[in-house]
Amino acid sequence: MRRLLFALLLPLAAIAADIPVQRVDGEPAADPMSSAWLAQAAVAVPLYPQASVPPAMKAAGKGSIKVRAQRGATTLALHLEWPDRKPAASRGVGEFADAAAVQWPLQPGAALPYIGMGHRGAPVALWFWRADGTVETLAAEGFGTLTAQPGDGVKAKGVWKNGVWRVALSRAVNKPAMERMPVAFAVWNGEGAERAGLKRLSAWQTLRFPGATAKVSLPDTASSGSAARGKRLMQAKGCAACHNYPGNPAKPRIAPDLSHAGGLHAADYLAESMREPSKIVVPGKGYFTEQGGRRVSIMPPFEGSEAERDDLLAFLLSLR
Ligand code: HEC
Repeated sequence: MRRLLFALLLPLAAIAADIPVQRVDGEPAADPMSSAWLAQAAVAVPLYPQASVPPAMKAAGKGSIKVRAQRGATTLALHLEWPDRKPAASRGVGEFADAAAVQWPLQPGAALPYIGMGHRGAPVALWFWRADGTVETLAAEGFGTLTAQPGDGVKAKGVWKNGVWRVALSRAVNKPAMERMPVAFAVWNGEGAERAGLKRLSAWQTLRFPGATAKVSLPDTASSGSAARGKRLMQAKGCAACHNYPGNPAKPRIAPDLSHAGGLHAADYLAESMREPSKIVVPGKGYFTEQGGRRVSIMPPFEGSEAERDDLLAFLLSLR
């Protein structure tokens, strides 16, 4: 866990919005309703329904979460704010509580982990808050591999008021020299029976610490290709036989749903998914075979021309 805090500079190519971290005297307020939080400008981060592995959210709309970040003398804190008409705070049979999580890469400097809770060899840490009072730190190396990290010391407090959840989460950090850190967010709506993989999540964003020098290189979200041609190639190249996306009448369920691929993934990840599907294997049931301890994707590598690849990429990036 500690290693997470020693991040100095991470690969930034795949990262979207820039969330400034405000320096505060003393420590950030534990109360999410504090004016010390609410007076700070927030960054709105889009959320998309999880649809990479089953159970995927069907017909679930997009969302958005407002994020603020502060650095005190000894702690780093995040303030999350999102709309929810009705709070769900208790859990029971068929009853689920609202929750939110902040995701960090556990091995700074290594490849950016897969947005869906990391991948083999690229673990993530999660600060998890749930409306029933649960606050914990979890580690994961891909969907379905969550383990609790006892005694990690994340604190969180959530308040629901007038249709809005506000949650402040914080943790002690012992290294002041951080510049940037990738971070991602997830939200579960308990009333909609959301839990585990049924959630909305963001793409990787960047926290920018006070004093960070170099400008963030914005992600490569453009492709020189044509999205319209790319959409036709999805049929012509057989992608449509396995992947669902808007305009694919077959609606196959045997591979990740790509309906929000451009909102969740950076261009370089998408290009790599086509070129080398087994490099980062999305860990869904039936998505891969184990060969000598290695996961091999059932997806054939894309073998078309560079122009075709750019068209496919332009189409995938347009899916938000
Ligand atoms: C035989 C079925 C099959 C075909 C054909 C196929 N894919 Fe895939 N694809 C998969 C599976 C299964 C995965 C998840 C495992 C993995 O990571 O490779 C995947 C993963 C992906 C991902 C990453 C999705 C995510 O959520 O991270 C992208 C992007 C993608 N495919 C694009 C394409 C494109 C573009 C084509 C056509 C050129 C294509 N696929 C053809 C089965 C297929």
